[in-house]
Amino acid sequence: MKRIVILISGRGSNMEAVQQRCAEQGWPAQVVAVIANRPQAAGLAWAAAQGIATALVDHKAHASREAFDDALAAAIDAHRPDLVVLAGFMRVLGARFVQRYAGRLLNIHPSLLPAFPGLHTHRRALEAGCKAVGATVHFVTSELDHGPIVMQSVVPVRPGDDEDMLAARVLATEHVIYPLAVRWFVEGKLKVADGLVTQTDGASQVLI
Ligand code: GAR
Repeated sequence: MKRIVILISGRGSNMEAVQQRCAEQGWPAQVVAVIANRPQAAGLAWAAAQGIATALVDHKAHASREAFDDALAAAIDAHRPDLVVLAGFMRVLGARFVQRYAGRLLNIHPSLLPAFPGLHTHRRALEAGCKAVGATVHFVTSELDHGPIVMQSVVPVRPGDDEDMLAARVLATEHVIYPLAVRWFVEGKLKVADGLVTQTDGASQVLI
């Protein structure tokens, strides 16, 4: 059984999607803990109601980024994870933290990386006149919102779309691609070579 720890900052809908698919589909894995960096993260209550261990490592309670990263790593390591899943985790993690979990740290970002790392992705895509947007699941490296791409979803931009409409349509695809990517990881079906990720069954790594 692979042990998954999920990090959240807010609502946690991606966390829910991962946990539900894991339980429904009988993955060889278990979500053993959900950890948030904000006391008001709504997803914590949902996780606790599922009987999952929860913890809060409040970034505001730490004097430096390094101190926060170290406290977070200690909380994570207490659950001996095989995989750490960032699910709407909105803190930048330092190089030492990222190195500690190299090859077992996944993130989902609401853009077609390498386009639009950082915040306000949908607004920036609309301003740039993009005709398609999407989401990316990737292994985390020390460069923000970069790293080997596991899977992407592509969502057409429709005339009249605003930021919220796009965010909602992209989020629905996140709930498909993130559980799939996590499943592939725990089933040992992801191979990373030269910064490129292949799915060893040859499954499509794009949802259109
Ligand atoms: C998701 O859209 C996720 O892609 C994004 O935050 C949202 C979290 O929603 N993540 C980032 O922007 C990370 N850079 P959720 O809490 O309902 O899963």
